[in-house]
Amino acid sequence: MPSSERSPSTAAAAWPRWIAHRGAGRRAPENTLAAFRHGWQLGYRAFECDVKLSADGEPYLLHDDTLERTTSGRGPAAAADWASLSRLDAGTWCGPGWAGEPPARLAALAAFANAEGLHVNLELKPLPGQAEATGQAVADAVRRLWQPGTPPPWLSSFQPAALAAAAAAAPELPRALLLDALTPGWMDQAQALGCQGAVLNHRLVDAEVLRGLRARGLACWVYTVNEADRADALWALGVDRIITDTLGP
Ligand code: G3P
Ligand code: MG
Repeated sequence: MPSSERSPSTAAAAWPRWIAHRGAGRRAPENTLAAFRHGWQLGYRAFECDVKLSADGEPYLLHDDTLERTTSGRGPAAAADWASLSRLDAGTWCGPGWAGEPPARLAALAAFANAEGLHVNLELKPLPGQAEATGQAVADAVRRLWQPGTPPPWLSSFQPAALAAAAAAAPELPRALLLDALTPGWMDQAQALGCQGAVLNHRLVDAEVLRGLRARGLACWVYTVNEADRADALWALGVDRIITDTLGP
């Protein structure tokens, strides 16, 4: 089936309720293939991760704008091309048992997603000044890399410009506006971007927010929920999906 014939609403309904943050939350080196494999072994079938571009335009997984927290590299990620990034150790910071795990290219994640039928939420996490380039490049890559029959990834971002660029490049891919604070007109903005949902900091969600999203036909996903009591309250409130470091299957 061509990707343009995929139905976002059908895809949304099929998503598991729990989404592993950055691959396997705090239990493996974030945004690496080892984390996805570990999350899979733990029983997760849906995953969030952060995607940005190397200096030579390769989409890969990294949260920060700098390399030192989660890799053996130093300095701004913007300076590094994929050849140099691919030689880094992105595992040791998480524990010696993960030593040697490299950063993950989006292409490698796609191969795993295609093989296992994973549900993946790709957070567009552009380096400064790269919102449009990142949205376009990731959307193009998803079209190229994700096979028909594999659930289409949801693209989310705190940066509307990244979502707009992704929408222009691959309008059939489901999108969600990410928010860490409610801004004036945010629901209208999500609709204008053609989003299927919003991914909200869980502290922002209440019954009124959910009513507004429902009235617009928008899904409500929340991050990052790591307390079971809080998760129970959010399920009771009616959120659709929870992104977590520690809870779930
Ligand atoms: O996508 C949800 C969440 O990952 C957003 O925040 O900083 O963990 O990427 P952050
Ligand atoms: Mg993220």
